[in-house]
Amino acid sequence: MTEASYLREKLESISPTERVERIVVQRFAVPLLQALGFDELEIREEFETGCGQVDLAARKNVDPEDIFLRSPKNPYLLLEAKSRAVNLREGSCYRDAVCQIESYLLAKNCKSAKWGIITNANNIQLWRKHGKVVHPATANLDISSDNIESIVRNLRDKIENYERALTVCVYNNKGGVGKTTTVINLAATLKTKGKKVLVVDFDSQGDLTGSSGVTPGKITLTQCLKDPKIDVHAIVQTYRLRGIPIFDIIPRDPELETLTDSRAVAYIPKGTRRLRDLIAPLRNEYDYILIDCPTQWLYFSQSGVFAADVILIPTRPDDLSSLNNAARVITQFIPETARSRQDGGPIALPAFFNGVSSRSEHTIQLANKEIWKLINQEKSVDLLHFWPHFKKGNENKSIFRIPDYAVISSAKFERVPAVFRHRKVLEYYQSLAREYFIDE
Ligand SMILES: Nc1ncnc2c1ncn2[C@@H]1O[C@H](COP(=O)(O)OP(=O)(O)O)[C@@H](O)[C@H]1O
Ligand SMILES: [Mg+2]
Repeated sequence: MTEASYLREKLESISPTERVERIVVQRFAVPLLQALGFDELEIREEFETGCGQVDLAARKNVDPEDIFLRSPKNPYLLLEAKSRAVNLREGSCYRDAVCQIESYLLAKNCKSAKWGIITNANNIQLWRKHGKVVHPATANLDISSDNIESIVRNLRDKIENYERALTVCVYNNKGGVGKTTTVINLAATLKTKGKKVLVVDFDSQGDLTGSSGVTPGKITLTQCLKDPKIDVHAIVQTYRLRGIPIFDIIPRDPELETLTDSRAVAYIPKGTRRLRDLIAPLRNEYDYILIDCPTQWLYFSQSGVFAADVILIPTRPDDLSSLNNAARVITQFIPETARSRQDGGPIALPAFFNGVSSRSEHTIQLANKEIWKLINQEKSVDLLHFWPHFKKGNENKSIFRIPDYAVISSAKFERVPAVFRHRKVLEYYQSLAREYFIDE
């Protein structure tokens, strides 16, 4: 009998209303890990993450002297199980389980962990960790005897083919909040951390391309969008500073502007899905792929959000409409995109304030009041979308800030990311990289 059919048999032996979590662990979760390719010496129950115990942890034994069951260190995958009586399809129990697997994956004994699973034998979802980011790798799937084998194949395929890049789209459908500025400075900062970065200028205005001074080669992004037979490597250029490569860039070309017309977009195969396919061959070549989009929720931005694992949303505390628009991205555009993608993504990272002046404290208080209103008005705005450090008993409403700093603005005229013009600016963006992305 194959592991998958053994798993199906075990699954069928669990009562549909099973209230005991242990039964789900033993009859479903352990056989599931076996079907995913881990043997019994590679699976450990009740693993201490450093932030509570997770039900199961697993890691391949490559060194015969280092058997995971006996010395449970450096797990690769964590699994948090619930009983069938817990509703993991949606609602607050599901959200709590997501927070739980996220905090385990980020806990100190799990630095090596790349994958997390939450399941109650009715639903299952795979989560991926990249640096500090934990994001869905599959939709939250309904399990049945009929589909369990294909679920296992899908999960196993993802787990065995961990992709190197995290794809980040920087987006708010409010202009002038610092989308382009964030992409260019974050890209340069990640380079200083030894990361290999690709930026995609998916704004027909080409502010990013302009401020990097890079020009497109013979084959352009527009041609590549229209013709899937073109090898995407042909449109990748390199931004260099004094001869040193800093990051790669897919620059905007003038013809991209024609795609602001919906009739022209009709000539792009797969429309707003095309960009995701276009960058797919590059996902194992970079640590980060950063996408810059224009403001309006039209072809370019829809494509950028569709292509991304996570969305980073800049706002300005003194601009009420940038907060309302951030809420719209979170409640409307991202869920809409996730529904059409059906693989769980993309998700929003907590929004941040860009351009905070030293006199902004009062403005920030007003912004926080506005955020509180948004959270109460819109069920799908989770307060963690704005206040990631907010916990029961510790109502920490801090939001990450990038200060308003003249060098940030003037640097673009010199074709140099501001982080390379001024030590202070580099420190600001290093703290952004640490807050969101890099696990140091
Ligand atoms: N933190 C900051 N301090 C000073 N100027 C900034 C800052 N962030 C952005 N700017 C400036 O604000 C303007 C709008 O930023 P930009 O990145 O072009 O916004 P978007 O891409 O969202 O339209 C630009 O002139 C930029 O240089
Ligand atoms: Mg811009």
